[in-house]
Amino acid sequence: MSASYRAVESLNRRVRALRGEDLPEVLEIERRGYSFPWTEGVFRDCFRPDYRLWGIQISTGLAGYAVVAYMADEAHLLNLCVATGCRRSGLARHLLRHLVGEAARDGMTRILLEVRVSNCSATGLYLAEGFVEIGLRPGYYPSSSGREDARVLSLQLAGCGV
Ligand SMILES: CC(C)(COP(=O)(O)OP(=O)(O)OC[C@H]1O[C@@H](n2cnc3c(N)ncnc32)[C@H](O)[C@@H]1OP(=O)(O)O)[C@@H](O)C(=O)NCCC(=O)NCCS
Repeated sequence: MSASYRAVESLNRRVRALRGEDLPEVLEIERRGYSFPWTEGVFRDCFRPDYRLWGIQISTGLAGYAVVAYMADEAHLLNLCVATGCRRSGLARHLLRHLVGEAARDGMTRILLEVRVSNCSATGLYLAEGFVEIGLRPGYYPSSSGREDARVLSLQLAGCGV
């Protein structure tokens, strides 16, 4: 076991459903995590029966979150973010594995997501967890120089026994 994973074990990480009262912490992480962060209104709109909002809690508070939308039998991972001071400790991987397991249990057959072509850290995580690239959406994201393409990644769930 690597030193970083031992360090995170001591943080007592735990995944739980996000609640409305988590929003101030979520927004703080979001604003530090993205150049084009979601607004509070966007997060509030995600508290719906067909969405799953997960938070990863450590001893000092909320360290990250994920937002997943269920559409028929497909789950769409809309947001996954870990607080800047808590990165490279396995928290995103733990959260991702949790939401994948929950999506499988909820009867989803695959998980789809978009990721900026420049986002090597997130792409590295998803590919390491078994996602495969299935397409490209040109100009999908705003960027400082105009627009940026998104890779579309997919993880097949049906029959994988998650
Ligand atoms: C992408 C992000 C969620 C990763 O969170 P994290 O908790 O640091 O990730 P983990 O520690 O679980 O890392 C898991 C794997 O992801 C990859 N990875 C994560 N950060 C990386 C980096 N800076 N450089 C290269 N690979 C990286 C590695 O494959 C890593 O595995 P390893 O540690 O065994 O090498 C985090 O950097 C983040 O919140 N970024 C801003 C928001 C964002 O871009 N979200 C994704 C939207 S699609």
